[in-house]
Amino acid sequence: MLSQKTIDIVKSTVPVLEQHGKTITTVFYKNMFEAHPELLNIFNHANQSRGRQQTALANTVLAAAKYIDNLEAIVPAVVQIAHKHRGLDVRPEHYPIVGHHLLGAIKEVLGDAATPEILGAWGEAYGVIADAFIGVEKSMYEEAATAENGWDGFKDFVVAKKVEESDVITSFYLKPADGKGVPGYKPGQYLTVRVTIPGEKYMMIRQYSLSRAPHEDMFRISVKREDECNPEGKVSTFLHRSVNAGDKIEVSAPAGDFFLDTEAATPVTLISGGVGLTPMMAMFDHITGNQPERKAVFIHSARNPQLQAFDGDLREMAAGNDNAAYSVRYSDTDGFLDRDFLSGRVIENSDVYLCGPAPFMNAMIHELKAIGVPVEKIHYEFFGPAAELEAVTA
Ligand SMILES: Cc1cc2nc3c(=O)[nH]c(=O)nc-3n(C[C@H](O)[C@H](O)[C@H](O)COP(=O)(O)OP(=O)(O)OC[C@H]3O[C@@H](n4cnc5c(N)ncnc54)[C@H](O)[C@@H]3O)c2cc1C
Ligand code: HEM
Repeated sequence: MLSQKTIDIVKSTVPVLEQHGKTITTVFYKNMFEAHPELLNIFNHANQSRGRQQTALANTVLAAAKYIDNLEAIVPAVVQIAHKHRGLDVRPEHYPIVGHHLLGAIKEVLGDAATPEILGAWGEAYGVIADAFIGVEKSMYEEAATAENGWDGFKDFVVAKKVEESDVITSFYLKPADGKGVPGYKPGQYLTVRVTIPGEKYMMIRQYSLSRAPHEDMFRISVKREDECNPEGKVSTFLHRSVNAGDKIEVSAPAGDFFLDTEAATPVTLISGGVGLTPMMAMFDHITGNQPERKAVFIHSARNPQLQAFDGDLREMAAGNDNAAYSVRYSDTDGFLDRDFLSGRVIENSDVYLCGPAPFMNAMIHELKAIGVPVEKIHYEFFGPAAELEAVTA
């Protein structure tokens, strides 16, 4: 329990943190990686270079400071981050390292303004926040390890099959190297993949959504090759060019809080842009295969047919089922998804699941609100740090 004095000190530092939050976390990362370079095996270097993770942590520190006497209010955020942490294999022993360098950075940036009293209060508050994460993550580790065919941390998987789905998206079918089956998961969840790329000093970790409903023998992920950007995406290009059937990669158990409620029978609208269709594939596959009486529509936006994956599979899933429908719009020739296109298709009173690039999500949320979809019915996943999307959609 924090004393009222500690709570008051922490809360009163919010304006200072708001002013210096990003600088503090930038200094924090620099110092932490100097002292613990092995942590570069966990952190995403591209997110670091682009300042993404700095923003994510700064936002979370501020949120925690604002709600330090009511951490219940940030539980949904803690759960979402804890899923990511569990997938990355973040362990309790990592927390004191982060705490030590976070406090050190506050001291370095604020100078004399960071009095021993302020640092003491932050030390205590960090301990409370860290314990909240550690507690949630502990139950997630236990759940992953004790599930049927479950496991703890990363384990080796063999690529059983590699299938080109479009000019830029390729699927990888992954089987456990130990010959076991795979655990079930909720449609919409992702795998965390760790690779060792020849010539790279550190291992690299990325998340990939499971792109079909659960099967007992193997997982499937579908990866877009990020080679149009400069620098090229490291892991996606490595997977496309160098990882083939028979090769091994490391995988941690399915994670994520963006998933279809498979117990419900309520109607569902799935809307995706580009490679954002992967979690929706698992949801639509589940509904058309296991809940054919459940109303579902899949609305997809791709640039053109050459870049679009799974068109044939989606047509097949929707065919012969009066409750399922699929529409695609090609932006190169027909324009983006807009409210005219959506209004005839979004199912009334449905839960809407969204996934795609940040500007796409921003536009979709705006259009959905405009056609009367209540915000609480809109659920979304973003293929990067959640805080970055919040900054765009706020
Ligand atoms: C929950 C979740 C689910 C996901 N599901 C999928 C999925 O199903 N399919 C899929 O394809 N992807 C998915 N992703 C995205 C995926 O995890 C990777 O982010 C994506 O494959 C890119 O990784 P990369 O290693 O190829 O690129 P990175 O090397 O991480 O680079 C990403 C971007 O950063 C830029 N960059 C890199 N270094 C720098 C630098 N020094 N300065 C400036 N910019 C830089 C690159 O140009 C590139 O645009 C998902 C992500 C999340 C969080
Ligand atoms: C209380 C302490 C912590 C807080 C508040 C925190 C907060 C966050 C947030 C907000 C994200 C972004 C989630 C998203 O992608 O949406 C994140 C991701 C991440 N966290 Fe933490 N975290 C904490 C502790 C730790 C620790 C101890 C480690 C391990 C050393 C760690 C490693 C990571 C990594 C590797 C990511 C993925 C981001 C990336 O690689 O770009 N975190 N964390």
